Amino acid sequence: MLAGKHVLLIVSGGIAAFKALDLIRRLRERSVQVTPVLTRAAEEFVTPLSVSALAGTKVYRDLFDLTDEAEMGHIELSRAADLVVVAPATADLMAKMASGLANDLASTLLLATDKRVLIAPAMNVRMWEHPATQRNLTTLQGDGILTVGPNDGDMACGEFGPGRMSEPLEIVEAISAALGDGPLKGRRILVTSGPTHEPIDPVRYIANRSSGAQGTAIAEALVALGAEVQFITGPASAPMPRGAQIVKVNSAREMKDAVDAALPAEVAIFAAAVADWHVAGASDSKIKKDKDGLPTLQFAENPDILAGVSQMKKGRPKLVVGFAAETDDVIANATSKRQRKGCDWIVANDVSPETGIMGGAENDVTLIHGDGSEDWPRMSKTAVAQRLAARIAEALK
Ligand code: C5P
Repeated sequence: MLAGKHVLLIVSGGIAAFKALDLIRRLRERSVQVTPVLTRAAEEFVTPLSVSALAGTKVYRDLFDLTDEAEMGHIELSRAADLVVVAPATADLMAKMASGLANDLASTLLLATDKRVLIAPAMNVRMWEHPATQRNLTTLQGDGILTVGPNDGDMACGEFGPGRMSEPLEIVEAISAALGDGPLKGRRILVTSGPTHEPIDPVRYIANRSSGAQGTAIAEALVALGAEVQFITGPASAPMPRGAQIVKVNSAREMKDAVDAALPAEVAIFAAAVADWHVAGASDSKIKKDKDGLPTLQFAENPDILAGVSQMKKGRPKLVVGFAAETDDVIANATSKRQRKGCDWIVANDVSPETGIMGGAENDVTLIHGDGSEDWPRMSKTAVAQRLAARIAEALK
């Protein structure tokens, strides 16, 4: 329950500051006490009066105010809340946080607090992708700062891409999770993701085109609902999910060992594109081009990790979810795959090249379960992940 919790909300100066007003409203609807802090730049985008009216309390501003200090010093202010939220978090404020600067009220509070901090970054796509910002993000995550977003989309500056601040309700969800309060609170969930690399020799391997984007989105959606996520991934190009426990593997056999080690779990989601075969007797040294003409590769079957977990006699997760990437007869193939493997749900999708799904940002899935199938409309992989996470929370009730 969020009711009765206290959030210190720092609003920094970006166009997304207007969404902070809605965020305050959403939090107040949930009986959350909000103490707002505006940076000087934030006041260019929202007025202290509107923030104060919505929060139902005074606004702490960046001006050095002896009355404020006398009523509640900045150290006390930084510690009185259950959680510190920065929305929007500009590139500038992230940089200050990453380097420990404390030259205004917001950055001082962030350095002085002993509470968890959740940031909702918002900035132009180039600024977000700039190596400096990405470096700062890595530093902040390493410091245990929680993040929500940013999302992909049209930006106020006319560009498109990651950098849009998460929507207020997504931030509310992240706040719930940060306060250990989502519907999946305390649930241990295992997610496999990415491709596998099957070695031919120490420098060559067989791989597939999976980016791991759907797996990352699923892990993040589960974390957002409060789950403890074990994320076992092959060499994916997608970013690693924030807030999950990450185990990196290369081959299918390594993935199986990592899954075995991560069990038991209440739910297991197998989003990895696991190679069906590995090269039998992969060479320990680099195969030479000119040795004896063309090499012949012998294949051996990989363990079917999903089928193995689905058919566990003891300690089987309550809910096992597989994926079926098909290029034709999607529903029929996926339905028989569900039966063959013994999993509870299958998320089926058409990965024919013309769909642009493999490696793309969107997905078009059908959820197949014991009672039939549900055709979901085409949506972003993030939206598919959120819907799946919500369905899982529902199923575990
Ligand atoms: O049999 P197929 O590879 O199409 O099945 C796909 C589903 O099975 C996915 O959920 C995938 O993660 C899982 N799988 C697995 N281990 C394998 C092959 C597939 O866990 N060796």
